[in-house]
Amino acid sequence: MKLWGGRFEKATDPVFEEFGKSLESDQRLVYHDIRACKAHLTMLSRQGVLTEEQSQPLLAALNEMEQDLRSGNTVTGEDEDIHSWVERTLKEKVGEAASSIRIGRSRNDLVVTDFRLYVMDACKEVQALIRKLQTVLYHRAREDQESCLPGYTHLQRAQPVLLAHHLMAHFWALERDHRRFGHCYEEADCCILGGGALAGSSWPVDPAITAEELGFTSHLDNSLDGVSDRDFALQFLFCAATCATHLSRMAQELVSWSSAEFGFVRLDDAWSTGSSLMPQKKNPDPAELVRGKTGLFVGNLVDLLTTCKALPLAYNRDLQQDKPPVFRSKEELCACLEVMKGTMETLHFQTETMGVAARDRGLLITDLADLLVKDGLPFSQAHHLAGRSVTVPGDLGEEEQEKVDRAWQKLTLEKALAARSHPGASGGKSVERQLKKAAVLLGIKN
Ligand code: ARG
Repeated sequence: MKLWGGRFEKATDPVFEEFGKSLESDQRLVYHDIRACKAHLTMLSRQGVLTEEQSQPLLAALNEMEQDLRSGNTVTGEDEDIHSWVERTLKEKVGEAASSIRIGRSRNDLVVTDFRLYVMDACKEVQALIRKLQTVLYHRAREDQESCLPGYTHLQRAQPVLLAHHLMAHFWALERDHRRFGHCYEEADCCILGGGALAGSSWPVDPAITAEELGFTSHLDNSLDGVSDRDFALQFLFCAATCATHLSRMAQELVSWSSAEFGFVRLDDAWSTGSSLMPQKKNPDPAELVRGKTGLFVGNLVDLLTTCKALPLAYNRDLQQDKPPVFRSKEELCACLEVMKGTMETLHFQTETMGVAARDRGLLITDLADLLVKDGLPFSQAHHLAGRSVTVPGDLGEEEQEKVDRAWQKLTLEKALAARSHPGASGGKSVERQLKKAAVLLGIKN
């Protein structure tokens, strides 16, 4: 069904008709659209634009439509978009009176209100999945606070860290994602109904009533801005791209760690794949797919930024292109979070192999230098001497060698880790502090 046509003498060209449709993508907004229609009707009726007798049958039919959808009715048809589908379906129930839902409203303020409701729901859903992945990381860190491995810079062995500390590093990145999606929710939390096509309405529309009915905490200040603002969608895409980037780093790590070269993890059979040719292979495909999908999130952000660039006020049909990237980013991000959760939850840490790597004496050279400083050497000399003791061991003077040997006697991996006890450091005390803080965030009793 079309919601316009009075001034047209010819039918739309079928090629363009198809080109302009967005129903297949929009159907994700069906519940939001029905809710928005109901809120608008309630407002119209409270403002005396519609009588109770006029609004009640429409509200009842919209409720019925929600029920029908819950019991399996699907959104299909030749309708241009979801708003047209809702009105046609309503018309099938109540006749011509269905079109009253269009009084004092346009698809331009409706679509962006629906979209905001969708983004708010999406933020909550993503946040819940982030929490689940964080919970897995928390438990994996909590269950093993002994094992250590080399920490890396430039992918070169650098200093020892506890495995729990390493896992918590990913936890905190996800914590920032969680917070960011919270901010995105707040950005989306504004009702635009009342904006009309671009200039509001001559009917006594009250956006405060509609906003309250829909559970928004605020409503539009300016109709032109309201119908054309997509900042909340951009923010969602940015949050998703950032979160996906974090997941890609975790994924890359799993790819490296599961290789024979590292041998730090063994992936569970249920979360890895084999090769059609090489029988011995066990491949980290879930992690590779998560890594591989990262471009999609970045692309979607750039896609919508480009759509919005230089777009004149107010609504332009370009804005129909705003939704597919958001839908796709949301759906793919939820899937990536679930896959990472399953993979992390089930993999086996090869802590012995990690331990052997962590016992590489090179990892303690920084601590060696620190001990030489404590022994009275200026920092630059200590750094230099510790470095030479690694590359040219036989080349040290007697006194120097003695200082180095004395320092080595005080040096063990365990002591080096225990010494890193301040907030944020990689030792056991710091990890304990992190786990306590994390438990509060996750609502887990310590
Ligand atoms: N399908 C459209 C969209 O998503 C709905 C708004 C249509 N408005 C219009 N003036 N053609 O943007």
